[in-house]
Amino acid sequence: MLPSPSPSLSLPVSLSHLLLITPSIIIHFCVWARRANMDSLGLFILLMLQCFQWTAAHAAEDITWTYKGMVGQTEWSEYFLDCGGTSQSPVDVVTTQTKYDPSLIPLTPLGYDQHGNSPFTLYNNGHTAVIDLPEWMGIGGLPWFFTAVQLHLHWGSGGPSHGGSEHTINGQSADAELHVVHYNSELYPNMSTAMTKRDGLAVLGILIVTGEETNPAFNNVLNYLSRIRHADQKAYIPAFDIKSLLPSDLGRYYRYNGSLTTPPCYQSVIWSVFHERVQISKAQLLRMETLLYSSKSEEPDRMLLQDNYRATQPLNHRVVFASFSAESGRELSSGEVTAIVIGVMCGCVGLAVIVRFIVKTIRIKEPEKAKEIKQDTALNSTAAGEKKEEPSLSLQTDP
Ligand SMILES: *[C@@H]1O[C@H](CO)[C@@H](O)[C@H](O)[C@H]1NC(C)=O
Ligand SMILES: *[C@@H]1O[C@H](CO)[C@@H](O)[C@H](O)[C@H]1NC(C)=O
Repeated sequence: MLPSPSPSLSLPVSLSHLLLITPSIIIHFCVWARRANMDSLGLFILLMLQCFQWTAAHAAEDITWTYKGMVGQTEWSEYFLDCGGTSQSPVDVVTTQTKYDPSLIPLTPLGYDQHGNSPFTLYNNGHTAVIDLPEWMGIGGLPWFFTAVQLHLHWGSGGPSHGGSEHTINGQSADAELHVVHYNSELYPNMSTAMTKRDGLAVLGILIVTGEETNPAFNNVLNYLSRIRHADQKAYIPAFDIKSLLPSDLGRYYRYNGSLTTPPCYQSVIWSVFHERVQISKAQLLRMETLLYSSKSEEPDRMLLQDNYRATQPLNHRVVFASFSAESGRELSSGEVTAIVIGVMCGCVGLAVIVRFIVKTIRIKEPEKAKEIKQDTALNSTAAGEKKEEPSLSLQTDP
């Protein structure tokens, strides 16, 4: 969906700004240095060094990206090169095109239920609500051990059945999506090093749909959103079992190589998107969609934090693997059930017709066979009769 830009067109914005303003800086500085009668070269070098330091520190991360608007998702790749890459996330999982990989074993959350006594930190980063996770939590079942870092949510704005998830299955969105982020602590010392490396991160994707029942586990997060309504706000919340947010079936999932779904979109994520969705109530979804602002508390214009999901990205040459054989594990739609019922009925009628035909042909042939048998027995009996009669005849003739 996003065109990959040519490198020359996509310098970080601060750098291109700098290139534009450099000539005027030089001219102004020379004028000023002459007036001040200073060692202009020395000062100029100092100034330029500071300028570059500032640029390096503020490049990219200084840009406020959003989902829609000036630096919306279609513009991300102009400022963050990787966002225009060929292995981006999220993707649409087309189940008939997934490849069953029997080596994909169930994922095992480790220490998710050992939350200790210290509270969790929940904060609004202007893009989503985040909970930092303690470093003793991790995930097993991947080629390396991955240590938990944080979890966050993505949602929409239109209530149930109006999108909000990042990943889609057969083109269908869920209402929201939970991401639990981990880094490869076997290969890398920390998150910041791992996040730029291939195989550096492992993210669990949990699709969230709405139903009638309240999901008490999600209230461990949703009940505290009112404390972090504005961007940069932070709250300490009681620790809880993170495993309770996950679906019960951790054995069935889709696996592919992808990226962070927000800038800088590093292509460093081993994705596991669970087949089973978790369910929350409509009221819970409404709280998720309407409580937070993307604007800071001091900003006069309040901006609701909504539709913080990225559009699906092209798979390009990637394969999505499934830990389960998609056909056998699939739930049947009502259409498919109808098709199967009609198919079975047609089959039964067909079988009945065939059976009737066979029975009829046997019945037609039976009288003929019966005649043949009767004739045979008749012949035999007459022959036997003749034979029996012979001795009696001789007996009669003897005396
Ligand atoms: C991460 O590890 C690298 C390499 O050891 C180190 O230079 C860097 O400061 C660390 N970053 C953080 C945030 O700890
Ligand atoms: C991801 O990429 C690595 C390295 O290129 C490769 O070995 C692995 O099979 C890929 N995994 C998936 C699920 O495509």
